[in-house]
Amino acid sequence: MKIIEAGDYQEMSRLAADYISGKVRSSEKINIGLATGGTPIGTYTKLIEDHQKNQTSYTNASTFNLDEYVGLSGDHPNSYRHYMNEKLFNHLDIKKSNTHIPRGDARDMLQECLDYEKKIAECGGIDLQILGIGSNGHIGFNEPGTSFNSNTHLVRLAPSTREANARYFESLEKVPTKAITMGISTIMKSKEILLLISGERKREAFARLMENEETENFPASILRNHPQVTIVADKAALGNNSWFL
Ligand code: F6R
Repeated sequence: MKIIEAGDYQEMSRLAADYISGKVRSSEKINIGLATGGTPIGTYTKLIEDHQKNQTSYTNASTFNLDEYVGLSGDHPNSYRHYMNEKLFNHLDIKKSNTHIPRGDARDMLQECLDYEKKIAECGGIDLQILGIGSNGHIGFNEPGTSFNSNTHLVRLAPSTREANARYFESLEKVPTKAITMGISTIMKSKEILLLISGERKREAFARLMENEETENFPASILRNHPQVTIVADKAALGNNSWFL
């Protein structure tokens, strides 16, 4: 795993956006895996700035989001489809039909899982997967205990994840209890992974990721086995762990 240290959140966002836009410019066609949550918002803002300033074009790009809440339709303000449209897609020249997010309101959610997994494979797999990390080590919505062999599947969200995400909802009760997420195996099939870690609240997760223990109790630990992982972490997340660099 390669680690890039950023001074702060802004620098982390700029470095990550430079990395992504560089790949988009140098690829004839690219499939990008995307994350939501607080961490990548700055990166998406920088990608939009770059698109406006340097005309980086996304007509060659397709995207696949990691996850979506079960029960929310794409036009619900708390859905990840809505988040992605607002924070990124509406501001780029990407074709909306090339942006894929699991449907949280599909009539048959189990079929939706199979279809999503199939769609990723049919499009040629993910070239660059952007990830955040939960304080409990989750990636996507793969909570501790998820099988490393999992494909896209339905999950019950851990109480700590619902609490962490309650800041986007009117109240904790309104946070859905279930989600659909790419599995750990789906994520590990990506050719390359860019993991963003920011803030003191992620310091412990970052330190645990660096420990040499691979365990399903800390899903992100599997990333140590991926041949092409780059982590961009800010100082607050690194803390005294800078000695890893
Ligand atoms: C979101 C996702 C999650 C987040 C994680 C960190 O699509 O897959 O794994 O990356 O919960 O969230 P933030 O960035 O809000 O701390």
